[in-house]
Amino acid sequence: MQHLWLIGMMGSGKSEVGRRVAELTETRSIDLDERIVADQRRSIAEIFASDGETAFRRYERVALKTAARELPSVVATGGGVVTSIGNAAIMRETGTVIYLIAEPATLARRIVEEPGRPLLAGGDRVDILSEILRRRAPLYEGAAHHMIETEGQTIDEIAGKAIELWNRS
Ligand code: S3P
Repeated sequence: MQHLWLIGMMGSGKSEVGRRVAELTETRSIDLDERIVADQRRSIAEIFASDGETAFRRYERVALKTAARELPSVVATGGGVVTSIGNAAIMRETGTVIYLIAEPATLARRIVEEPGRPLLAGGDRVDILSEILRRRAPLYEGAAHHMIETEGQTIDEIAGKAIELWNRS
């Protein structure tokens, strides 16, 4: 058994689905954003503000590589994990990669107003999310072994599908 890697935009439900899959399968659960925050002892907003996005992507790579070497786990990644060259290959080699698909309007609705998402600051959230998704969709699709459409689905339904796909691979 290998890892289950969950990828997709912010607000696609990776963390929640990851926790649920881990509970249902009694597997370890890892949240890469939480790992970065714990390692850095700063919030993601603080890391972006003081070190910039490039540095954040380096910390994210380290967290990803560390997770890749651990016991089989369900790993919720940050939305931008596919933008760093090489990350997709690490995930594909060490497990099953599932892309959680959602529309920009749905993502915007699901993301609670908080300063934790620096990439959404200062603009119309649906517009920003649409632009980010336009750039990243091919990267998510290229990295994923499977895709799950999350529109209109509950966390339990999405988790159930993810488990089925993970079991099959
Ligand atoms: C980011 C998504 C965030 C976090 C950071 C950057 C992105 O994670 O890693 O703010 O580039 O899409 P979530 O997808 O868990 O919100």
